[in-house]
Parts: sequence; structure tokens; C-alpha cells
Amino acid sequence: MCGIVGYVGKSNAYDILVKGLHRLEYRGYDSAGVAMVNDSGKLNVYKTLGKVSNLENFCSDKDKSGCTGIAHTRWATHGEPSDCNAHPHFSEDGEIALVHNGTIENYKVLKDALIQNGCTFQSETDTEVLVQLIEYIRTHNDCSLLDAVREALRQVVGAYAIAVIEKNNPDTIIAARKSSPLVIGIGEGEMFLASDATPIVEYTKNVVYVKDNEIAVISRNEPLKLMNLDNEETKIDVKTLEISISQLEKGGYPHFMLKEIFEQPNTLRDCIRGRVVENGNRIIISGVQDSKEKFLNAKRIIIVACGTSWHASLIGKYLIQDMCRIPVEVEYASEFRYSSPVIDDRDVVIAVSQSGETADTLAAIQMAREAGAYVYGISNVVGSSIPRNTDSGTYIHVGPEIGVASTKAFTGQVMVLTLVALAIAELKGTMTAEQIAEIGSTLKKIPDYVAETLKLNDQIERLSLIYTYAHNFLYLGRGYSYPVAMEGALKLKEISYIHAEGYPAAEMKHGPIALIDAEMPTVIIAPNDHLYEKIVNNVQQVKARHGSVIAIVTEGDKEIRNIADHVIEVPAVPECLTPIITSIPLQLLSYYIAINKGKNVDMPRNLAKSVTVE
Ligand code: G6P
Repeated sequence: MCGIVGYVGKSNAYDILVKGLHRLEYRGYDSAGVAMVNDSGKLNVYKTLGKVSNLENFCSDKDKSGCTGIAHTRWATHGEPSDCNAHPHFSEDGEIALVHNGTIENYKVLKDALIQNGCTFQSETDTEVLVQLIEYIRTHNDCSLLDAVREALRQVVGAYAIAVIEKNNPDTIIAARKSSPLVIGIGEGEMFLASDATPIVEYTKNVVYVKDNEIAVISRNEPLKLMNLDNEETKIDVKTLEISISQLEKGGYPHFMLKEIFEQPNTLRDCIRGRVVENGNRIIISGVQDSKEKFLNAKRIIIVACGTSWHASLIGKYLIQDMCRIPVEVEYASEFRYSSPVIDDRDVVIAVSQSGETADTLAAIQMAREAGAYVYGISNVVGSSIPRNTDSGTYIHVGPEIGVASTKAFTGQVMVLTLVALAIAELKGTMTAEQIAEIGSTLKKIPDYVAETLKLNDQIERLSLIYTYAHNFLYLGRGYSYPVAMEGALKLKEISYIHAEGYPAAEMKHGPIALIDAEMPTVIIAPNDHLYEKIVNNVQQVKARHGSVIAIVTEGDKEIRNIADHVIEVPAVPECLTPIITSIPLQLLSYYIAINKGKNVDMPRNLAKSVTVE
């Protein structure tokens, strides 16, 4: 949800800022802008509607000098996407420029007060209020930019990661955060800031994750300074980045999404490395082992998540209930936080989030912790807010996911939830050593089965041509395949803009069956599991109403192949592991349908990868 970048050093800031914006474009891409201050004290601000490439065209003949600057790629919240609402915003006197990721909740009150004091506003954004407030405080109190930022932030309610520069000080950026991510990179005679580490990693591996309510003074010649809103210096904890540049590039694929789909054999290998040991006889998840008492005594597990992570969590429910016999509830974090949840210290709350930054998920875990629950995080981004605000947890280790539609993170989350469930089952003794070994030994082969499934690519590409222009799709599954159906439908919606519904197959007769006709394809996820015979009936019910059926079945399937219009055969695995395999063809199907329609799969309209606002 909006990406911010900043640079102060010896090089030309513009090139570094624009490259950084490209890396952060997955966070939002309706408009973009840069502001640079040069050594002659000139502050140039350029911003424009559209993607970062538009900004580059716009700036081609402009003065781009300056070794200090800030930049922004936007996902609109307050005010429509437009040149004027794009960041950076600047003060009325043109002295200060600011970029912001987050939402200023009390902007209306502050804006009205500033207008009464004679301020005029250019944009409809909440962000402009912040920069005008900073200017107002600086002028009226005759104080430094740092003091004015601190005072302004004391008056602000909401979430922010900000970076501010001023015309008369080309050596310094002031940055701050509350509930929105901010990372600072420390180089030799130069420093960087960004919403995540991806714009920084090619310059330095030394980073500092700014904490809530901290202000940073980032200078060319001085060491980094961090302080709280009471002006007390806080500790600087330098961490080493583990990501590499090649992980951030397309590596010969036309889109990040396709690259990430094809990376899954490797990402799943990374995900289980060191965790499935002794030929699959033992599962080592240190986060679970460290939380032994909590899981042994848990009366209930609540999983909170959003979007695709919520679908992975639903699979987690089936896994944990099957394997550990602990009741599990799965909640949308955005609903959970406002539903007066009844939680106590015998509850374990698991937060599942690729980015580790989703605002609703963070708020949900905060609430759970305050109510005394033990909170366990499952995230991808190392050092992100969720792992830092949970009692324990596990990383999925699938590397940076850039495509907005989540693919490898989904299978990584399902894999980690499987490992967590097995580890708890081992602790509780709800599965025998033989049962664990049976699943564990197959887990080791899952990356190979996924590689096998990816060989269906050409078949699915051909199939996609038949259905590209359908207006609606229904996705059906039962048991473990029900969340897979929902995730398949979400993938299609997100990137092709075709309406699709994921439904429990047996519920079809209570409503969606009314929609079925020759125009509406139904995708049925029907691996050979204990509900197979039931789902054969569902296929019959669709066919009896002249619907066409694309069925995902297990290799060697006999019955459904005679009824469905198209079958996609995937390798046989134990029932609890089918979601990782059956979701692969659905990712490819949505990808090719979107490509056939000429859509931008990596940057679908209106979406953002990391949702750091409510
Ligand atoms: C956005 C992304 C989805 C993601 C969801 C939750 O909507 O586009 O891909 O599933 O946020 O994000 P999280 O980072 O918490 O998994």
C-alpha cells in the first residue's frame, strides 16, 4: 500500500529513487513522484498519474540534479489517482517535501484548523495535511525541521511511514514510522530508506528496521540517529539482509507471476529444508517446540489472516483439526478485530501473512495479545512487523514475492501450516510415529510432484484459450479442496477481472446451481480423496444442466474423465497434501486467461500486494 524510497549520499539520487520505485511498484501503482534537493538549495518535485514508467517519461527533460531525494508510488486512499494527489506533497512555501505511506485518520480536524489559520491546500489527500502542519509548526515556533516533524507527529492519529526533506538542508532526510513499514539501509557515505528492503539490497546488506514511534535522522555525513517522540535517542540494531538481487528480477520469464509459479519446486524445498529430517520421520519446527506448553494446553486455535493467506489458513484448519484434534477457527483479521472476540490465555492465535505487514492482521494480533492469548506468526518477509510482534513463529522462506497475485507464498504457507500441524501432533501424541513418517516422507517428495504438475503448463495454456471470454466461473471443492477452490477463484478474479466464485461443492445446490448453463464453466477440484464419490455427483449435477466442467483429478482417474469436458491430471499424494498440488493448475489457468485478455498480471488494477491500511 504505497511505497516510499529515499536516498542521501554522493550519487545522483534520481536514478536510485526511480529504480527503487520500480521494485516497490507492487505496493501500488496509480501515480508516482520524486523530489530532489540539490547543493544549490533547489527543491524539484515531479509527480504524475500512472505507473513509474510514466514518471520517467515525464522527467526526461527535467532538472534531475541532487544527491538527496525522496520518492513515492501510490495506492490511492484519500483522493482519486491524479497528478495533484500524487506524492511528494510540498508545503505552501515550497520549502518542504514529504512522502507518506499510511493513513492520517484525524486529517479532517487538522485540515480545518490549518485552513482557519490561512493555509490553502492543493490536493484532496490526508498526506498534504501533514506537510502543511510541519511547515506551520516550523514557521510559528521557529524550530528545526526535526522538531517540527516530531511535534506534528504528536498531533497525528493514524498510520504512517514518512520521509521529509527541506530545501535548505541537502544533507538530511527525516523519516518516521507508526504501523507502516520503514527500513533504513546504511552504506559507505550514503543511506537509503524504503518501505521494504528490495530497493536497498543492491547497495548495502546492512539495514535497520525502524520501530513504531521512532524518528530517524538520515544524513550523508553523520551516523544514523534514531529517537522517540520524546526526543530520547533509541538503540540502533543493524541487521544483515539475506535476500539477493536475482530473487528480485524476472530471470527470463515474461512476468513475475509466471516466474514465481515455476519457482515453487525450489521454494518448497527451501521451506522444508532442515525441518523434515531423518527421512521424514521427524518434523522440526523450532517455533512450535519453543511454544510446547502453549500448544499442549491450547483449548482452541484461532487463525487470523487476509486474502490468499486466509485461504491457506482454512487449509490450516483442516490440517490442525485432523492431525492435532484441537478446535480451530479461521477469521478474516478485518472482521475479527471488530467482532468483540472472546479470547483468553488458553487460546493460541496464529497470524498468517506473506508480507508480515497487513494492517488488519497486525491489529488482530495486537488485540489477541492484549487479551492474553499466545500469538504465533507465519510470515515470509524476514524482519517484518508480524514476526516482530508475535511470541513465536515460523518463516515460510519462499523468497521475495513480487507478483501481486500470490502463488509461491500460498503453497509455502500451506506447507508451513502442514509442518506446524505435524509438529503439534507429535508433541500431543495425536498421531503415531508411523503416521507422521508416512506424511513426512511424502513431504520430502512434494517439490518433485510440483515440478511434475508444472509440466501441465502447455495443456493448461491451450485450455485457457477456450475459456478466455467467459464472464463467470464457478470453482467447487470439498474438504481440503474447498479452500483450493476459493483460492482458484480469487486468482482468476484478481488478474483477469472475470467474476469467479469459490464454493463448497455440496453447497452448490443451495444457490449457485441456479447460475449454471452452457455459458458458465465450472472448475471442480476432485482429487482421489475420501469425498471423491460425493464430488462425482456434483460433476453430474453440473453436466445435467449443460454446464461445462474442467476437473482437476488424480492421475489414473476413471470416473470423472468420462463425464467432465476437460480433465487435468495431477500426481497422487495423501489427502492432506493435495492442496499444494491441485492449486498449481489453477494458478496457471488464471495466468493464461489473464494473458489472453491482455491484462497486466503483475500489476492488476486497483490491487496492491501489501495492504498496510485498513
Ligand atoms: C493483498 C494481496 C494478497 C494477499 C493479501 C494479504 O490483498 O494482494 O495477495 O493475500 O493482501 O496479505 P498478506 O501479506 O497479509 O499475506
